[in-house]
Amino acid sequence: MDEKKILVTSPLLPKLDDFIPYLKEIWDSKWLTNNGHFHQELEKELATYLHVPYISLFTNGTLPLIAALQAERITGEVITTPYSFVATTHSLWWNGIRPVFVDIDPITCNLDPSLIESAITSKTTAIMPVHVYGQPCDTEAIQEIADKYGLKVIYDAAHAFGVNVNGESILKAGDMSTLSFHATKVFNTIEGGALVMKDEKTKKRIDYIKNFGFSGETTIVAPGINAKMDEVRAAYGLLNLKQVDAAIIWRKQVADQYREVLRGVEGITFFDEIQGVDSNYSYFPIFVDKVKFGMSRDELYFKMQEQNVYGRRYFYPLISTFSTYKSLPSAASSNLPIATKKGDEVICLPMYMGLTKEEVTRVLNSIINRNAIQ
Ligand SMILES: Cc1ncc(COP(=O)(O)O)c(C=O)c1O
Repeated sequence: MDEKKILVTSPLLPKLDDFIPYLKEIWDSKWLTNNGHFHQELEKELATYLHVPYISLFTNGTLPLIAALQAERITGEVITTPYSFVATTHSLWWNGIRPVFVDIDPITCNLDPSLIESAITSKTTAIMPVHVYGQPCDTEAIQEIADKYGLKVIYDAAHAFGVNVNGESILKAGDMSTLSFHATKVFNTIEGGALVMKDEKTKKRIDYIKNFGFSGETTIVAPGINAKMDEVRAAYGLLNLKQVDAAIIWRKQVADQYREVLRGVEGITFFDEIQGVDSNYSYFPIFVDKVKFGMSRDELYFKMQEQNVYGRRYFYPLISTFSTYKSLPSAASSNLPIATKKGDEVICLPMYMGLTKEEVTRVLNSIINRNAIQ
């Protein structure tokens, strides 16, 4: 086989020539981290771009989850989804919180609000939903339950950069939302992340927490951690922000091409556009119905690899099956039938800016021509 490998993702990189002057400025100033000018500028530009009131940059997308739970002093039990990247649940574990898994909605793959109430106990203090693949959660239904029981809501919005619902940023839902700017994400700072909050007081508290708890030269106001973003990555982020709209438009064209062909393929389903939602096309998951498609997800996944097409089985295995969590009562697969099914059926197809029409056709052929390939 002479065709080059098509991988599930490829990072959005700024032009090296554009980055050099930024690096020179950092070298000249010798200001490498600790709320430098690029850090401040990126926070400002991101708040504007994302239409959110306050944002605090982090060094990755896991630490803002941990910091948000600390800032809200969350303890006891937190209701969350098993259908996510493992960092969601790990953030609870690192805070000594017991995760309580609730099944997902079969249409959105997000936490099913109709199942939340029956999982609430006297120890429940918060809900941690995920806008998985950037698909908006039912934020209204979740907030109603949170208000009824006095619970905090912290959204893991790692996939939801730039997603709006009816013109409003999805990042404004709940008490706080986290973002990941990992290299694989729609917008990346190589490693990086952020926490979005509603008021200045919380922003200040989070800024202290991400810097060891320092509120001044000699004052520590909280048991903080070191989770700051440095100047080099903040500068890189400023450059990437200039091309993120182009990246999202490109991704939409890839999604359109996938949808047009896959709509006619028996046994393959996928997400369609949702009215009123500005999507970021961060992932293109397909779900393989073994009976209707005539092949299991894993059979297709490895057939695609034989044709040098490398999808990823996000999110399989479920977080609830990992050794740390599998003995929790809520982790039983009988409690999570939809998540289990989705995890067994999913393949995320290659999706990135720069993926050509011909390459998308190759991906599609690797699915459609499955029986012709031996
Ligand atoms: C849903 C979700 N939450 C949290 C994270 C953690 O982000 P990071 O890798 O930037 O720490 C990721 C991703 O990578 C993710 O996909």
